[in-house]
Amino acid sequence: MAVTGPHPANVPTLPAHTDPDTDRVMDSGLLHELSYAFGGPFHFLLPHRFDTNLTAFRAVLDDAGVTGQVYYAKKANKAAVWMERCAAHHAGVDTASAPELRAALGHGVRGADIVVTGPAKSTELLRLAAHQGCLVAVDSLDELDLLVTLALTGTARPARLLLRRLPPAQPHSRFGLTAAEVATALDRCVRAGDAVRMEGFSFHLSGYATRPRADLAGELVAHCLRARELGLRADRISIGGGFAVDYSSAGHWHTFLDGQRPEHYHAHKTFEPDGFYPYHSPVAGADALRAILDTVPEGARTSLAGLLKETGTMLMTEPGRALLDGAGASVFCVQGVKERDGYRILTVDGTSLSLSEQWFNSEYLPDPYLVTAAGRARGGAEAHPACVGGASCLEPDLLTWRKVPFPARPRIGDLLVYPNTAGYQMDSNESSFHDLPLPPKVVVDRLGDRPRWRLDRHPAC
Ligand SMILES: Cc1ncc(COP(=O)(O)O)c(C=O)c1O
Repeated sequence: MAVTGPHPANVPTLPAHTDPDTDRVMDSGLLHELSYAFGGPFHFLLPHRFDTNLTAFRAVLDDAGVTGQVYYAKKANKAAVWMERCAAHHAGVDTASAPELRAALGHGVRGADIVVTGPAKSTELLRLAAHQGCLVAVDSLDELDLLVTLALTGTARPARLLLRRLPPAQPHSRFGLTAAEVATALDRCVRAGDAVRMEGFSFHLSGYATRPRADLAGELVAHCLRARELGLRADRISIGGGFAVDYSSAGHWHTFLDGQRPEHYHAHKTFEPDGFYPYHSPVAGADALRAILDTVPEGARTSLAGLLKETGTMLMTEPGRALLDGAGASVFCVQGVKERDGYRILTVDGTSLSLSEQWFNSEYLPDPYLVTAAGRARGGAEAHPACVGGASCLEPDLLTWRKVPFPARPRIGDLLVYPNTAGYQMDSNESSFHDLPLPPKVVVDRLGDRPRWRLDRHPAC
């Protein structure tokens, strides 16, 4: 049965951008040692890359002369090390549950640097947020009333809040306040007097386009000006997250999309091309923030940066995925290899729960690396296509349905390294299915010939 072939141009491949830090870890021999030590899959984290991304966001604000704060959206990855980095750099954190808020506080982030988002927040979460002086993005009138009551009856006064706007361009969003509700909310904030400190407005948009963010930001600045006329503070806006990550080159991405067909996937599985994350973005990360600031919002005379400065309005951003770009990877060991007609089925020692894209009817597409005991497999003349299944009894538990054209024949004991997985892939959906332990996270504090590592301090590890 032929399971190899010359590297045919039509086998879809999506190489991630070359990443020297990930390459150094893969070439250090550390991963095989850790795989042996843990006896299962694990993730490694590169905190210096988080620092670099944070610095880039801050530099964009500085260059534009805009006063702002970056809040790391904690939902993107549970590791404690990101909180530690935020605390060390006086960065903010965006939390959306009481445990997330407690984790941020517990790892040294000040309440004043925390924003609390998410819908229908529990009384426990609102009380804790008010008590710790966190900024609450209010999502509904009920929530506003509850927060006001807590502020009036508790010791924490005033309760700091933003009003979250339902995006007019995404009217089916279940988040945020309609225009009429904003008017009612402003009235209630005025009536609440000293019990609340209404600091401005917020939104979070689906998708990654920059223009709609600039347009809505412009609208929120106008809301701030009206709120100030009512005697409210309203000196900041939050434009949420949604700064794209650029995983692969334009050429690779478009060739991939044009070339992929059902026969390139195990069981002829099909995915809607527009259901894939846009793995190439010409404008990504901090550059997307720069583009937003440079855009003249609809109806305005000046760029968003100019508008913010003219009106003395501070800009809050809540990037999750973009702060984690390049900051981690996921490692699985090949535990079984089956031959099929023209390809192989690899079974690894973990499950697709550690690569969440599958749980959104999609697939994490950047090619995994094959790392043998002798080192990284390099491109040869032959392709060795294989899909990747999880060690579970579930038929659909595949980490990769696509028949990835590996550069060498994968064998039991080899490692598969999925690159750039820190943003939403590694732990959003993990559970201890089959009583398997949650994959530990290893923090690589120092690169070099012998990388220094430690376990992350999140309790799940
Ligand atoms: C309110 C809010 N802020 C920030 C984010 C982070 O988005 P991203 O990771 O795409 O930057 C999200 C994601 O759902 C969100 O809902």
